[in-house]
Amino acid sequence: QDNKFQAIISHAKEYGFVFPSSEIYDGLSAVYDYGPYGSELKKNIRDYWWKSMTQLHENIVGIDAAIFMHPTTWKASGHVDNFSDPMIDNKDSKKRYRVDHLIEAHADKLKEAGKEQEAAALLAEMERTLDKEQDYAAVKKLIEEFKIVCSVSGTANWTEIRQFNLMFDTKVGSVAEEADTIYLRPETAQGIFVNFLNVQKTARMKIPFGIAQTGKAFRNEIVARQFIFRMREFEQMEMQFFVRPGTEGEWYKFWKEARLQWHLSLGLEASKYRYHDHVKLAHYAKEACDIEFEFPIGFKEVEGIHSRGDFDLSQHEKFSRKKQQYFDNDLNEEGKPYGNYIPYVIETSIGLDRMFLLILSNSYEEETLTKEDGSADSRVVLHIPAKLAPVKLAILPLTKKDGLPEIAKELMNECKQQFKCFYEEKDAIGKRYRRQDAIGTPFCVTIDHQTKEDQTVTIRHRDSMTQERVPLSKVREIVTQAIEK
Ligand code: GAP
Repeated sequence: QDNKFQAIISHAKEYGFVFPSSEIYDGLSAVYDYGPYGSELKKNIRDYWWKSMTQLHENIVGIDAAIFMHPTTWKASGHVDNFSDPMIDNKDSKKRYRVDHLIEAHADKLKEAGKEQEAAALLAEMERTLDKEQDYAAVKKLIEEFKIVCSVSGTANWTEIRQFNLMFDTKVGSVAEEADTIYLRPETAQGIFVNFLNVQKTARMKIPFGIAQTGKAFRNEIVARQFIFRMREFEQMEMQFFVRPGTEGEWYKFWKEARLQWHLSLGLEASKYRYHDHVKLAHYAKEACDIEFEFPIGFKEVEGIHSRGDFDLSQHEKFSRKKQQYFDNDLNEEGKPYGNYIPYVIETSIGLDRMFLLILSNSYEEETLTKEDGSADSRVVLHIPAKLAPVKLAILPLTKKDGLPEIAKELMNECKQQFKCFYEEKDAIGKRYRRQDAIGTPFCVTIDHQTKEDQTVTIRHRDSMTQERVPLSKVREIVTQAIEK
């Protein structure tokens, strides 16, 4: 499985999906850049999420808040005091580890060595000592018993377990002036909370309603591993749904189900998904679960659904001394007195980069094929859902002459208004097909000499590799239908 993951990382780089950041300087740990095809795929995932939230739900609107926020925001939200992870330092190697990552890494090693039961027992022990009881002495003892982990020997000399804050800080204003420390936001959610009344009033929203946002978030993750799964600069797609107190239970259930359905609407297999209900809750949460997906590195969290109660809005009311209340007209219609209250919140929060990794790793296949003459062949193909594919249609004239490029370019001009196309006239057709398979293009159209006779072309389907002859005038419609499905 590790080999498969490595192959996906190499493929992502070779075909212009993901590059290590500032690679000419040997990269920057846990930071990545998206290339020509990667940025298209990422944008398509973001657009698909944005549409499902703000267009398909009439009671959800979007915002685009700044990354920098008033520093008190993070005091109120609890991030200054609570957004930290238990860490431990190895005195010999001078390396710092996040305790849960260290234990998980050890469990992975045990699994690799075929000691499944021992790994399961270790993870259960971690859940008890770390998550439930926060008994750091017991956790440290557990770590000291490790014989093999992250190239640290069993005799390792460890410090006590301490909490480290994950927020990055920086200064605003010129250095000469009295500079103020501000934070790079560790989640986009707070930009929504501080704008709750601005949005509710200007967009005339009535409870229940939601506010959606996508944007960068930053966390000083200590253990940087697993490619774009855990990054220091990443993008979130979050939605806060404001409800009447007392109805949060049913809305939590609603969003838990609705978010899984969103994933399945992309044609992803239900058997690769599972829920993980949290035992240990984040500082703001009343009830929380993860949607987990089976990545090549195992089942891992891709999205979280959290019932946050009135925690955030009450905290902002307290710290800003500005009322954060909603006036509920509808209560009167139900025979209850009008009321002002702080709404409760259900949050859905998904990492865009993690969703990208999900799509990329799930699409990747090294396929063995048999040629017509019986000899073996192979291809690497990305079975990306057509609506997310970076390029939808490759337009390929069979030769560079006889007027074929002219017909191809005419088709290109017709289609490129509607979806992303790619034109190529170099190399043998088989080679050109393979390159499109490798970036996940669902359709290739070949213009040949017959096209001049009868205005038909060959359309090739990426997954089945089947080809059919269709009228040139139908190509745009065929592709449009497939990507809108
Ligand atoms: N506002 C709630 C919140 O931020 P979270 O569980 O800390 O909750 C939500 O993060 C999602 O953001 C995660 O499910 C994951 O997909 C993504 N995410 C969190 N940290 C990440 C990181 N370091 N790199 C990439 N994605 C991350």
